[in-house]
Amino acid sequence: QWGLQTEWLGKSIVHKPTIASTQTLAKQLAATGAEHGTIVIADEQTAGRGRMQRTWHSRKGEGIWMSLILRPEILPNKAPQITLLVATVIAEVLSNFNVKPLIKWPNDILINDKKVSGILTEMQAEQDQIEFMVIGIGLNVNQSKDMFPADLKPIATSLKIQSGQKLDPIVMTQQILMKFEDVYEKYISHGFDVLKGNWLKYGYKLGEKVYIQTAKRQWYGVIEGIEPDGALRIKNDDGSVETLYSAEIKW
Ligand code: BTN
Repeated sequence: QWGLQTEWLGKSIVHKPTIASTQTLAKQLAATGAEHGTIVIADEQTAGRGRMQRTWHSRKGEGIWMSLILRPEILPNKAPQITLLVATVIAEVLSNFNVKPLIKWPNDILINDKKVSGILTEMQAEQDQIEFMVIGIGLNVNQSKDMFPADLKPIATSLKIQSGQKLDPIVMTQQILMKFEDVYEKYISHGFDVLKGNWLKYGYKLGEKVYIQTAKRQWYGVIEGIEPDGALRIKNDDGSVETLYSAEIKW
């Protein structure tokens, strides 16, 4: 059914017509031993979750709602790099459809300044070992404008709205998974540095001034790029440079 030509990613696929959240199920499966590369995918989620306790609208036929279980042998502080790689892969796949996707660090994908995809990464780790990572991907494929709730209309979009074509979520899922398997293997054998350039190709507001919010403060700074470990590098008005591991960029 899935026509996947991958070696290990998606060898085991758990597909549910309806589920509360693929992320929640994937975490349960991961905690009880699901193998590296297992995928949980749903046609519809009734309680899809985003970052910061936000809701993720996930109706049937409108997009891709899936969670990947990974068990990378890397240090837990490197895990954000994998999220950046997933974002890069989604941006690359989207760019085949005549649109110009950009990645808003750390994990939103925008087209024409509106969000088309979001990534939610959750991890279980001990000291210096990752037990598992669950990477949730939400990608809006076939919504038309009126299908988004009023509060999302100004900030959300779909590939159909942006490209003018109705697309098959299964075909897109295949493309994302095949590309990600390849990128992941390169990453594990060569590290993030060789793949960083791919991210920079899609970096949103690179070199531009943005409004930054962290738990402690909010200010304007220029996005200079990302550090080798995946942190965001910001240059402040007074010339100082800082690296951020967690922040919201406003647009
Ligand atoms: C965000 O932008 O805040 C992240 C959104 C992540 C949504 C996906 S859809 C599949 C998986 N299951 C969930 O409940 N959430 C993620």
